[in-house]
Amino acid sequence: MAALDILVLAAGRSKRMRSKTSKLLHPLWGRPLITWVLDALQPLKPRRQVVVLGYQAGAVREALAAYPVETVIQDPQRGTGDAVLTARPQLDPDGDLLILNADLPLLSTSVLSGFVDVHHASSATLSLLTTELADPDGYGRIVRAGGQVSRIVEDRDADASERAIREINCGVYLARAAAVLPALDALTPDNAQGEYYLTDLVASLGSSGESVAAVVHPEPREVLGVNDRADLAEAFDILRRRKLAALMSDGVTILDPAHTYIDPRARIGADTVIYPGVWVEGESVIGECCVVRPDAHLDDVQIGNRVTIKNSCVVTSSQIGDHAQVGPFAHLRPGTFLSEKVKVGNFVETKKTVLGPGSKASHLTYLGDAELGAGVNVGAGTITCNYDGKAKHRTVMEDGVFIGSDTQLVAPVRIGAGAYVGAGTTVTEDVPPGALAVSRARQRNIEGWVERHQAGSGQKAGGKKDT
Ligand code: UD1
Ligand code: CA
Repeated sequence: MAALDILVLAAGRSKRMRSKTSKLLHPLWGRPLITWVLDALQPLKPRRQVVVLGYQAGAVREALAAYPVETVIQDPQRGTGDAVLTARPQLDPDGDLLILNADLPLLSTSVLSGFVDVHHASSATLSLLTTELADPDGYGRIVRAGGQVSRIVEDRDADASERAIREINCGVYLARAAAVLPALDALTPDNAQGEYYLTDLVASLGSSGESVAAVVHPEPREVLGVNDRADLAEAFDILRRRKLAALMSDGVTILDPAHTYIDPRARIGADTVIYPGVWVEGESVIGECCVVRPDAHLDDVQIGNRVTIKNSCVVTSSQIGDHAQVGPFAHLRPGTFLSEKVKVGNFVETKKTVLGPGSKASHLTYLGDAELGAGVNVGAGTITCNYDGKAKHRTVMEDGVFIGSDTQLVAPVRIGAGAYVGAGTTVTEDVPPGALAVSRARQRNIEGWVERHQAGSGQKAGGKKDT
């Protein structure tokens, strides 16, 4: 089989986005639009990959840093045919050349490899990926004569009868490089946009006796391009629904697919239940038999099995062990590590903090730069004072420590194994293992004070009241 080279056309201005940023850099599920088609291409193991850059070339090149691509600059951008001409000196004249628009995030590897297989099984010089749309507005239409593809007419150049054609060009082409690269010389900018259209190759190859074949893809939602913000939103939704369908078929319960947002890169184990309003972003992993309740926002998380995340938690770049319970209304910031059976309750914030197995911080607490051993109990309203205005410092609570409510732990500080801290204490020095630390003033009860106070304020009319 001939070697496969890839050419991605990514130089265009993308006017229809009405954005200061290239369309190809707009994030789709957190990643630049252009990376989607490149991800789908990598498993095809191409010999070479060339990307044509132009508009905002530097920024688009940066977005491609992780891919094994060569780049070429098209300046000025005079159309898709001109883009291929610009790259031609860098392309090998042997082998097969797969040319794609860069704005095709919905294409999957299986659609692409199916297209490549059909081309190889045919004797076509050029194969086009096409599909039929109920509303083909804006796309190039496939004009057929006697069933055979004769040419592509762009939307702006089409007459009324051509506009009625529902079969459209997807912007994915597979060609015998030796036949197609020389044919580019025949292109002219003789059209409404004054551009060199790659699509004009279809007619010119046909008239010189080469065969052009259309591979009609039955599912438009797998091949649509993104030209404007409405298309971007639609692509987001198609990818969202595709992911939810895959998760449900793998045994994840999605209670309300219309209101659930799970990144296509995320992984979720069977028998986990996801409530409405949940966002799971990044390459997050959630184990089996977990429950994620409404409106939780999980980004770049690693969650074990049988974990419960209650309503409205925000968890970012953190790890949560088996059987842990979080929330409602907890905020786990980057670097949080909850071991198995940990409980973090409402209005608890953590950052760069480890909680050992079975430790609990159930209410109204801030734990920053802290390391808690196993079985630590943190009372309501506990604060690690980790910042002295210049630097961050660590707080250590060894195994079995008990922190009474409304405690401040002024870091750096260490509470030894099994030690207790009395409620309302401000801990400024290390506490030895097994000790009780109390720093608050001893309580005084002043008998009869209220009665005297009230009587006193009544007698001193016009005078200064006791406060
Ligand atoms: C193109 C096709 C159209 C097809 C549609 C599918 C042409 C002439 N038309 O139209 O038949 O139905 O895609 O989505 O090809 N680009 C360059 N250099 C340029 C111009 C564009 O590299 O000078 C790149 C763009 O960055 C983009 C791709 O080529 O990734 C397609 O350009 P775009 O302007 O989106 O073409 P469409 O009008 O959508
Ligand atoms: Ca396009």
